[in-house]
Amino acid sequence: MPIIYLNGKFLPPEQAMVSVMDRGYLFGDGVYEVIPVYNGKAFRLDAHLKRLHNSLSAIRIREPMSTAEWRSMIEGLLERNPGADQYIYLQVTRGVAPKRDHAFDDSLVPAVFAMVNPIPPADPAVARDGIKTITLDDIRWHACNIKAITLLPNVLLRQQAIDAGAAEAILIRNGYATEGAASNLFIVKRGLLITPPKGPQLLPGITRDVILELAANNALPYREADISEADLRDADEVWMTSSTKEILPVTLLDDKPVGDSKPGAVYRRMSALYGEYKEKVRRGEAA
Ligand code: PDD
Repeated sequence: MPIIYLNGKFLPPEQAMVSVMDRGYLFGDGVYEVIPVYNGKAFRLDAHLKRLHNSLSAIRIREPMSTAEWRSMIEGLLERNPGADQYIYLQVTRGVAPKRDHAFDDSLVPAVFAMVNPIPPADPAVARDGIKTITLDDIRWHACNIKAITLLPNVLLRQQAIDAGAAEAILIRNGYATEGAASNLFIVKRGLLITPPKGPQLLPGITRDVILELAANNALPYREADISEADLRDADEVWMTSSTKEILPVTLLDDKPVGDSKPGAVYRRMSALYGEYKEKVRRGEAA
């Protein structure tokens, strides 16, 4: 029986109620985080809390808890929801206002919701065969670095990919590939790992940071640089990354093979390094 956290209480989900006047419900006015948990240990919690802080301040919601309070709430949630590989979904909305009004009042009390869900085990076919993706025009706004719950473009783009028999959409803005509908983008070209630099065009993914760190620590050449649509189509390897899916090798892009149409050697190396890192987290030797 899962237990969720809502505004200071741990509750069964069916007892957790929010007002229809909450601005998250009316305007999608809020931000969120997705934090993996391995063997009861939250992965990169400091980085996730820092990104949450950045998202909150970008949309002018005052931080409802201190770092110590976030940590203790998450501990309480994990104690009540034991499991192996899980993720925490954490959401903060601007709260309940007396009437529906686009403009907001700084005195509103933010609503905090968190739940734990299992991370489904990775499908071995993905590491063996890779995934199919399609490119789509990036129809999102100009502040994609904010992890906003307002995800309508991402929802529609992902669904368009699914309808085309693909697992993810790679988004193109002004001739450059930015990221996926819910993942970051990497390519490999002549042994060099490339991912677009952080900026308003993409979410600063925590998995992305871990991968760049692993590349640096293991002497794998990498660069943060813009990826043109031509670079994407000409890449030897293409990967999509996220907290829940980790690293997905792309072998089909708009129905054309990527590289030799098999997950590449750099992917296999990075996937192994990522797996080792996760094991360290499980043993409490890394965070
Ligand atoms: N999404 N870009 C977008 C648009 C995302 O939504 C996500 C993650 C990422 C990867 O970020 P991270 O490595 O920190 O998970 C990049 C989460 C998993 C989601 O919305 O469920």
